[in-house]
Amino acid sequence: MSDEALPALEKMNKVSKTMVDMLDDLLDVSVIESGRLDLNLEMIDLENLFADRRETDILLASRKSIKIHQNIQDALPSVHADAYRVEQVLDNLLSNAIKFSIPDTMITISADRVDNTVQISVQDEGQGIPQEELAMVFQEFQRTTIKPTAGESSTGLGLAIVRHIIDAHGGRIWVESEVGRGSNFTFSLPITPAITQAE
Ligand SMILES: Nc1ncnc2c1ncn2[C@@H]1O[C@H](COP(=O)(O)OP(=O)(O)O)[C@@H](O)[C@H]1O
Ligand SMILES: [Mg+2]
Repeated sequence: MSDEALPALEKMNKVSKTMVDMLDDLLDVSVIESGRLDLNLEMIDLENLFADRRETDILLASRKSIKIHQNIQDALPSVHADAYRVEQVLDNLLSNAIKFSIPDTMITISADRVDNTVQISVQDEGQGIPQEELAMVFQEFQRTTIKPTAGESSTGLGLAIVRHIIDAHGGRIWVESEVGRGSNFTFSLPITPAITQAE
């Protein structure tokens, strides 16, 4: 292959990946809006789930010289959840944390038992979100004045999907943020069944 072809192929690869991601998001939105989000509930071990993702997470973050720190409580109880959907939530929160952060910062993923739930948070040292815009981040197609720091794509669908997934589990999601200091997205998942499996 010629030297000129490689950058063009890389560009095409990036564009097609962005389009596939966007299509996935749109499909999820249509599934959610039609009320067909079926969860495949089982007892899942979050420690394993974090361990499986760790290498990929570190790789993604390292492209922006961002460090990932994990702070998982010992003997974390299992949660009653859909593993695939929980991973989707983590992917979204983590990709946002990377996308809206400047290089050489740190992202901390924590997990702790709180009453009858496990609370998982993804905290970044990025740009933060103005207080008056916080309410819109979980709405479909809503983006704030805070933009990606390295030209990454942004549709405003990720957090709306995330909120629906957490709602379907009977959990909660919220955000705390300060401009110039960073954001902390936290969600809770029930340890014991909060909802029954749809047949
Ligand atoms: N960690 C974060 N730091 C700063 N802003 C954020 C963060 N996560 C989300 N946002 C803001 O919320 C908006 C909605 O997020 P999301 O629904 O994931 O859409 P997208 O990632 O496609 O922009 C983003 O466009 C951004 O303005
Ligand atoms: Mg996103």
